[in-house]
Amino acid sequence: MQKFFRAFLSDPRTTGSIIESSPFLIKKMLKPINFEKAEIIVELGAGTGVITKKILKKMGPNTSLLCFETNKVLAKELKRKNKDSRLKVYSDSAENFGRYLKRFGKDKADYVISGLPLVVLPKKIADKIIKEILENLHPKGVYVQFQYSLTSRKLFKKLFGQVKIDFTPANIPPAFVYSCKLGKK
Ligand SMILES: C[S@@+](CC[C@H](N)C(=O)[O-])C[C@H]1O[C@@H](n2cnc3c(N)ncnc32)[C@H](O)[C@@H]1O
Repeated sequence: MQKFFRAFLSDPRTTGSIIESSPFLIKKMLKPINFEKAEIIVELGAGTGVITKKILKKMGPNTSLLCFETNKVLAKELKRKNKDSRLKVYSDSAENFGRYLKRFGKDKADYVISGLPLVVLPKKIADKIIKEILENLHPKGVYVQFQYSLTSRKLFKKLFGQVKIDFTPANIPPAFVYSCKLGKK
């Protein structure tokens, strides 16, 4: 049985989807990234690494990618399959990513790319993750999040200031891509 589907069966709420993101969704998720200028990219909820692989392919030799994945089996696979000195994989919750960023010698992330199922995660955890993103995103950085509904639009607008929404029907289920920048609220 495929690892991602197995993860879904063992913990549907945390995994959030039965299948990995499609190439169409991944393309939209990475559209806001300026790969020539990015120094630090953080990926939250990397899963089996379908987005990770694409980021690694597009990013330059001086960019670092810090990935967070709570499922230990998936995190181990992610490490094993992507031996790349620009990549760090942490089997810890996205709630703590700022701590690892500081340990890595960086104050802020240029981009935070998230496949976390924020809407179905326990509210306390989801709130803590959003707070962590707000505190650790560079003032000119972008937070990109996919979701299967528009329910977070108002909240993200209130918290970040600027929100752009893209959509792809070519994903199971069809998905919205939120690109959030810190700005006037
Ligand atoms: C919908 S899947 C997305 C996987 C992959 N990024 C993709 O697009 O196919 C969400 C992933 O987030 C992980 N996850 C859930 N809660 C997390 C947390 N608090 N911190 C880090 N990862 C988490 C799950 O284990 C799961 O692999």
